[in-house]
Amino acid sequence: MSQFVCIDDYERHALANLPPMIKDYYRSGAGEELTLRLNKEAFRKLRIRPKVLTNVSKRDISTTILGERISMPLGVSPTAMQRMAHPDGECANVKATGGAKTIFTLSTLSTSSLEEVAEASPEAIKWFQLYVYFDRNVTRDLVRRAERAGFKALVLTVDTPMFGDRRRDIRNKFALPKHLRLANFEGLLSQKINSASDGSGLSEYVANLFDDSLSWKDVAWLKSITKLPIVLKGILTAEDALLAVEHGASAILVSNHGARQIDSVPASIEALPEIVRAVGDKVEVYLDGGVSQGTDVLKALALGARMVFFGRPMLWGLVHDGEKGARKVLEMMRREIDVAFALSGCSSIKDVTRDMVVHESQYSR
Ligand code: FNR
Repeated sequence: MSQFVCIDDYERHALANLPPMIKDYYRSGAGEELTLRLNKEAFRKLRIRPKVLTNVSKRDISTTILGERISMPLGVSPTAMQRMAHPDGECANVKATGGAKTIFTLSTLSTSSLEEVAEASPEAIKWFQLYVYFDRNVTRDLVRRAERAGFKALVLTVDTPMFGDRRRDIRNKFALPKHLRLANFEGLLSQKINSASDGSGLSEYVANLFDDSLSWKDVAWLKSITKLPIVLKGILTAEDALLAVEHGASAILVSNHGARQIDSVPASIEALPEIVRAVGDKVEVYLDGGVSQGTDVLKALALGARMVFFGRPMLWGLVHDGEKGARKVLEMMRREIDVAFALSGCSSIKDVTRDMVVHESQYSR
C-alpha cells in the first residue's frame, strides 16, 4: 500500500503481513466475536450534531488526567506481547506515545520489562496494567517495581479471572514464539507461555497462574500496598461502577477488553452512558474498545468519557514501522480528532457536550 490515510489502512497492512498465529491473536475476539463487531458498529450508530459558526480558529485538544496534562484525549491501552509485532515492541510503543505526550499503559504480560520500558522513555507518562497472580508476592513485587520505575498509576484489569474463549488461539495452539519472553518475570512465569499442551498456551498460563478468587476486597488490599492511583479496567455496568467508587478507585476504564473476554457484552460505547450517569464527577471515566477514528473519540467524549484509549491500532502501527509507525498512528489520530473538533464547532474539550451525539434511531422516526 503506497499511502496510509486512515487506521484501517494500517490494519489491512498488518493483517496481510503478520504470520497467521500472531495475526489471529492480535485481531480476534472471544466466542463468535459478536462484541468485536459491536465495538465498531455501535460507534457507527451514533450521529454527531455539529454546531456551526462558533469560531474554531484557536483549538486546544489537551486535557488533564489524574492531574497530569496530556496533549490529547487519546492514550494507549495495554496489549500483551508487542515484540511479536516488531522487534522493539513495547519500547517502540512507549517512545512513540511519550513523543506524542499522552499516556502509555504497559501490560503485565509484556515482552519488554517495565524497567526497560521506563528507560526507553523516561519522560512518557506511563501506567502499569496489573494482573493478579495466585502468589501475591508476585503482584507485590510488580507494584514495587512499577513505583520505582516511575509509573504513575496502576490499571487493575477486573474482567479476567480466566481468559475468554478465543477460538482462533485454541485452533492455532497459540504460544509465544521461543525467542521471546514475558520480560517482567523469570523462570516459569516467564517461559510457561512459550508452549501449549492442548489449546491456547495463553489460556493455560492464565488458568494456572492468575488468581480467580479476586474480589472487591482485593481492591482494598491493592490500595493498602501502594500510594499510586488505581484505575479499574473492564467495568461495563452502573452497579459495578458504583462499587468501584465505594472501594476507592481513582478512575474507571469502561472496557470489554477489546471484546476478548465474555462475548455478547455490550460495546463499550453502549455501556458508557449508564456508567457516567451513575458516577457523575466522583471518579474519572475513560473508555476503550473499537476506537479507530477522530469522530469515535469525539463521540465518546460527548457521552461523558474524560479520556479514550485504543489498543490494536498501535499494534498495526508497530507492524508497519516500529516506533515510526506507532508515531504515525498517533499523529493521524491527533489530526482526525482536531478535524472532528473543528467541524463540530468545538475549540476545546469543554465545548464537547452531551447533546452533540444521538443514536441513529432518532433520525428514523
Ligand atoms: C489486549 N487487552 C489487554 N488488556 C489488559 O488489561 N491486559 C493485557 O495484557 C491485554 N492484552 C491485549 C492484547 C491484545 C492483542 C489486545 C487486542 C487487547 C485489551 C486492551 O487493553 C484494550 O482493552 C483493547 O485492546 C481495546 O480495544 P481496541 O482498541 O483494540 O479495539
